[in-house]
Amino acid sequence: SAELPDILADGFAADPYSAYQVLREKAPLYWHEGTQSYVISRYEDVARAFREPVFTTANYDWQLEPVHGRTILQLSGREHAVRRGLVAPAFRGDELREKFLPVIERNARTLIDGFRTAGKVELVGQFSAHFPINVIVDMLGLDQADHARFQRWYTSIIAFLGNLAQDPDVAEAGLRTREELAAYMLPIIARRREEPGDDLLSRLCLAEIDGTRMSDEDIKAFVSLLLAAGGETTDKAVSALFANLLAHPDQLAAVRRDRDLIPRAFAETLRYSPPVHMIMRQPDEDVAVTGGTIPAGSTVTCLIGAANRDPERYRDPERFDIFRDDLTTTSAFSAAADHLAFALGRHFCVGALLAKTEIEVGTNMLLDAMPDVRLAEGADPVERGVFTRGPAHLPLEFTPPG
Ligand code: HEM
Repeated sequence: SAELPDILADGFAADPYSAYQVLREKAPLYWHEGTQSYVISRYEDVARAFREPVFTTANYDWQLEPVHGRTILQLSGREHAVRRGLVAPAFRGDELREKFLPVIERNARTLIDGFRTAGKVELVGQFSAHFPINVIVDMLGLDQADHARFQRWYTSIIAFLGNLAQDPDVAEAGLRTREELAAYMLPIIARRREEPGDDLLSRLCLAEIDGTRMSDEDIKAFVSLLLAAGGETTDKAVSALFANLLAHPDQLAAVRRDRDLIPRAFAETLRYSPPVHMIMRQPDEDVAVTGGTIPAGSTVTCLIGAANRDPERYRDPERFDIFRDDLTTTSAFSAAADHLAFALGRHFCVGALLAKTEIEVGTNMLLDAMPDVRLAEGADPVERGVFTRGPAHLPLEFTPPG
C-alpha cells in the first residue's frame, strides 16, 4: 500500500529501523514491487522461514551462479546436507582453535602493526576490510603474497552481488573474476589432491561422505563463496562492534576492563546491527505467516534487521545493551545464538565460530593497541547499505602506547 515504507527507496537506507517498525506493526506480510517478493519482518516469522524446510534457497541460483558457480547456499534438501557435511567439520571448535588461532592472531597483528604508532586509523579501510580475507587465504594454505589479489577478487564479487543498478562494467568485472579465480585455483586444487597438506583446501579435497567427494569445480565455487560470505560480513561486524561501543562509552569501558564481555558485545552487535539485513527464501508449498499466506514458488524477503529488533522478542529492542539478559550469547565452542544475524536451521552460517573467533581476537588486540580509542575529531560514522549494512568509514584516534 502507498503509505508503507519502500525497502529500496532512497530514504530507506538512511534509517531502515524506523521503517522496520512500521512494517512489523502495520504490514508483517506485504508484497514489495521493487524486489517482486513477499516481505516478512517479525522475529517469529523470519525464524520460521529459516528453520522450516518448506522454505528453500532455490531462488538464489540466478544471482549467485554467474559469479560463484554452484555453492551450498543455492542447494536444498539432501544435496545441501551432503555438501554441507563435507565442508562444515573444518569450521568446528577444536580444529579451529588449534590450527587457525595462530593464523588469526598473526593477521590481526600484521594489520595493527601498520598503524600502531600512527595514533590514528580508519578502521574499515585499514583493518576490517582486509582481516577476514587474509585469514581465509591463509587458512586455505594459499600464498600469503596473494592477499592483495584476493582482496581485489573479493571486492569485485561483492560489487557484482550488490549491483542493483546493473552497471555493465561491474557485471563484467564479476564474470572476469570468476574466470581468474578458476584459473588460479584449479591447478592448485589438482596439486593438493596429489599432495595434500595440513590446510583447509586439502581438507576440502579429501572430504568424503559415502563415497561422495566435491569436484574441483565445487571446491573452487566454495572458495569463491567463502570470500563473499566470510569477508563482507566479518568486516562489517568488526567495525559495527567498535562503532556501537564508541557510541556507548560506559559499555566500552566495561569491555576494556573485562575482556570476557567481548562475546556479549559481539552477540549484541549482531542483534542490534546485523551485517546481513535481508535474505531470500522460496517456499515450495503455500505457507501461512502472520498477516496472510505466502504462495508456493514466490520469493520471500526476510528482514533480519527488523526481526532482531522485534519488541515481542527483545525488551527495549532499539537500545544497544551488552548486558541485556534476553539474548543468548555464544559459548567458547559454538556460535549458536538466538538473534538471527547468522540465520538458523539448515543454512545457519558455517563460518559463525570462525567469525566469532576472529572478532574476539581482533577486538582484544585492537583494544590493547588503542588504550584511549575515540572517534576522530569531527567524524560522524554513518551506516551504509540495504542488503548488507555497516559503517562506511570509522576514523579513530588514540595515543600510541609508550
Ligand atoms: C551462511 C551471516 C561470517 C561462511 C550465512 C548466512 C548468514 C550469514 C545470514 C545464511 C544465508 C542464507 O541462509 O541465505 C554471517 C555473518 C558473519 C558471517 C553475520 C560475520 C559476523 C562467515 C564466515 C564464513 C562464512 C567468516 C567463512 C569463512 C558462510 C557459508 C554459508 C554462510 C559457507 C552458507 C551456509 C549454507 O548455505 O549452508 N552467513 N556470516 N560466514 N556463511 Fe556466514
